[in-house]
Amino acid sequence: MKSTLLPFVLCAVSLASLNNLALGSPAPDGLVKRVDPCAAIGNQEWVAPSAVRACFESFPVNQTIKSNILEVVTKTLAFHTSVSYQVLAPEPFTAEVHEDILGDLARIGATQYKSAFDMHVDLSRSVKRLMDGHCVYTNACFDSLFLTFVPLPVVLLTDSQGNQAVHIAPEAFQVASAEFADEIQFWQDSLPGNLKGQLASLSGAKVLAINGQDPFASVDANALITGSFEGFGTRQNSFFSSYQRVDAGWNYVMGNFAQMSLPLADSVTLTVQRVNTSAVQTFSIPYRSRFGSTSVPFSDTASLIANNCVATATTNGADANAASNGVAPVAAVRRLPGGRFAPKTQIPPQVLQKHAVSILVDDKPQSDIVLPPPLQPAAPIAGTGVTQFYLLQDGKTGVLALGSFEEADFDTFQNTLLTGLQTLVSKGATQLIADVTNNGGGFICIAHWLHRIIAGPKNTTVPQAGLDTKARAGPLAQLIVKAIVEDDVDPNEALLYNPLNWRFSNNTPFPADFDWLQNPVRTVINGRQDAFSLRIGQECQPFSQTPPDEPLFDTKKVVIVSNGRCASSCSLFSVTLNKEEGVKTVVVGGKNDVGQQYCGTVGGESSDFSTMDTEVKTAGLKNNSLAPPDFMTNSVQGITWRLGFGIEDPTQPEEWQNRPATVNFPLTAETVNNPMAIWTAIAASVL
Ligand SMILES: *[C@@H]1O[C@H](CO)[C@@H](O)[C@H](O)[C@H]1NC(C)=O
Ligand SMILES: *[C@@H]1O[C@H](CO)[C@@H](O)[C@H](O)[C@H]1NC(C)=O
Ligand SMILES: *[C@@H]1O[C@H](CO)[C@@H](O)[C@H](O)[C@H]1NC(C)=O
Ligand SMILES: *[C@@H]1O[C@H](CO)[C@@H](O)[C@H](O)[C@H]1NC(C)=O
Repeated sequence: MKSTLLPFVLCAVSLASLNNLALGSPAPDGLVKRVDPCAAIGNQEWVAPSAVRACFESFPVNQTIKSNILEVVTKTLAFHTSVSYQVLAPEPFTAEVHEDILGDLARIGATQYKSAFDMHVDLSRSVKRLMDGHCVYTNACFDSLFLTFVPLPVVLLTDSQGNQAVHIAPEAFQVASAEFADEIQFWQDSLPGNLKGQLASLSGAKVLAINGQDPFASVDANALITGSFEGFGTRQNSFFSSYQRVDAGWNYVMGNFAQMSLPLADSVTLTVQRVNTSAVQTFSIPYRSRFGSTSVPFSDTASLIANNCVATATTNGADANAASNGVAPVAAVRRLPGGRFAPKTQIPPQVLQKHAVSILVDDKPQSDIVLPPPLQPAAPIAGTGVTQFYLLQDGKTGVLALGSFEEADFDTFQNTLLTGLQTLVSKGATQLIADVTNNGGGFICIAHWLHRIIAGPKNTTVPQAGLDTKARAGPLAQLIVKAIVEDDVDPNEALLYNPLNWRFSNNTPFPADFDWLQNPVRTVINGRQDAFSLRIGQECQPFSQTPPDEPLFDTKKVVIVSNGRCASSCSLFSVTLNKEEGVKTVVVGGKNDVGQQYCGTVGGESSDFSTMDTEVKTAGLKNNSLAPPDFMTNSVQGITWRLGFGIEDPTQPEEWQNRPATVNFPLTAETVNNPMAIWTAIAASVL
C-alpha cells in the first residue's frame, strides 16, 4: 500500500515549487498528502462532481495570488464605465442591480477562505451581481474546466388554458442520447425502480417539484446568481434550454439547470408526471462532470495548474510598440474578451484592430451540442455561418436568423446581410422576423449597418445608426490619453484611447492632439463622484459598402424575436429598431407574470483587462501605482469600456432604461426549441 503511493509522495515534494499555487507547504510533521485528488480526475472524460470539487478544494489560498487577483480586478474596474451606477440602478432595475463591487472586493480581501476555489466562487458571484455580461470575472482553473450535466434540460411550457409549468424538454432524450452517448447508460442505470433504463420516457414530463420545492424556487435561485442581464425574467430564462445559430449550424443550449460551469451539484430530486400518465413519481438523478472541450488535459495537481491555472501568453497585455521584425507581441493584439470562453468564430487580429466589438463574457464555452435535426429549420434561401435567411410558407414573411454579430470577415458579413435581405424581398417577403435568440453581440458597426439597411436613410440612421457613448475618465485613463497626445506613444494608432478613433457628438473627428479626457464631465452617481469623457458620436459611417437608398422593409412589419438573451451589439441593434423605428419585439417562453426585457447588457463597447493592460504598457505607465499588475492566474476581467446614451432619456445611459417586450410569446410542446414552428406561429399572430 505504502510503496504504491510512494512515487506520488516523492513527486509532490519535488514539484513543490511549481505546486505552490495548489498544495502549499508539506504538513509540519513532514507528512505530505497521500492522495492527489486531482490525479483521481486527471485524463478522465466523465467524473462525479464531488471528485472535481475535492480537487478544486485541495488548492489552499495563496495570499500572494489572492492579493494579485483582487488588485488586478479592482484596478481594472477603474476603466469600467458602470461601477457607480451599479451600486444602485435606477428603475426599473433598482431591485435587480445593487452591487457595491469595490466594497465586495474589499470584503473578499478580508475574508479567510478554506480553499482557493471557495474564494473563486465568492469573487465570481460578486462580480456577477453587477448583472452585466460585459463585466464578468473568469478563471480557467475552475470555470468550465469540467462542465456539469444532467441529461434532463427543462423548458417552460404553456397549456391551452394559459397555465404555465416547467417540463422536461420534449427533445431531452434525443439531445442527451446524441451528445452523451458515452455516459447515457450510467444515467439509465441510476434511475430507480421501474424508471431504470427508461430515461426516454421522461421527455416532456411535467416537473411538479425540484428538490421537494416548487420548481420556481430553483429557477429564481439561479436567477440571483447567473448574472449577465439586468432583467429578472431574462435571468429566469437562463434556467431553460434554448437554441442558437452558430457558424457551423444550429446548436442546443442546455440551460443552467442541465449544465453548470462549476461542479456545485451532485444530484437533483425531481417530482414528475410523465406524458399521458397520471402517476406522480419522485426520483433522484446524479449530475456528472465532463472534461471541457476547450480545457487542457492534465494528469495531476501539478499539470492541472501548469496547463490551466497560470497566466498564458495572452492573459496580460504587452507594449504594442515592442515589435520585433515589425510584428507586435501577441499579447498586444486586441482580442475578444473571453479567452477559453470566447465564441468559436475566430476574428483575425487585423479585423479586430479595425472594427470595435461589443460582446458578452461568459464563464462557459459556446455550446457545441447540436439541436436535434428534426428541430432544425430546413432550406434557408440565403446566408452563411451565423446568418441564415428563410421564407415562410405564407410567402410573405422573411426570417433572418442571426446567432451573433461576429464573423471572421467584417466586409463579407456586411454583404451577406444586405444580399440576404434583398433576396427575401425579391422572393416576395414584405415582412421580416429577426431571430436573435442567444445572440451575445459582436461587431458594433454590423449592428449599425443592419439598422441602416432595414430602416433606410433617415435622421435615426444617418449618420448615427447606433448610440452616442461616453468612456470613463479615471486618473489612469487620463494619463494614457495624455501620453498619446503629448509623448506620441502610439505612432501605429494601435490604442483604443487614441483620439484618432473618435468623433464629437456632431460627428466631426477628434483632432490627433485632442486630450479628450481632460476636463471630464464630473457626475455624482449614487452619491459617488465619477468622471466621464465628453459625448462621443458615431464611429461607423461612411460604411465600407454603400447602403441602399430605400428601406428594405416597412419597420412596422418587422419583429425581433428572442428569449430575451440578446446582448451587447445585439442590444444596440434591437434597442434602436424598437425605440426609434417602432419595431415590435417578442420574447418567447418567459414566465407570464414577470416583465420580459427584449434585450440587456447594452453597453456601448466592451473590453477587458488584457486590452487595458496593453494601453497601460504602451503608454509607459505600468509602474504607476494605479496600473493593474499582470494577472498571475489564467483569468479574464471584462469591462464595459464605453457606455451608450439612452433613446427615451438621452441624458442617461441606455443600460438601465426599460426595454419591455411587446409580446411574451408562450411556448408549447409543439413549438419549444423549434425555430420554424415559433416563426410560423409569430407570423400568424404577431406580425
Ligand atoms: C504563492 O504563489 C507564489 C507565486 O506562484 C509563490 O511564489 C509562493 O511561493 C506561493 N506561496 C506559498 C506559501 O505557497
Ligand atoms: C400521448 O398521447 C397522445 C394521444 O393519444 C399521443 O398522440 C402521444 O404520442 C402520446 N405521447 C407519448 C409520449 O406517449
Ligand atoms: C427626425 O425626423 C422625424 C420624421 O421626419 C421628425 O419628426 C423628427 O423631428 C426628426 N428628428 C430630428 C432630431 O431631427
Ligand atoms: C518600472 O520600474 C522598474 C524598477 O524601478 C524599472 O526597471 C522599469 O524599467 C520600469 N518600467 C517602466 C515601463 O517604466
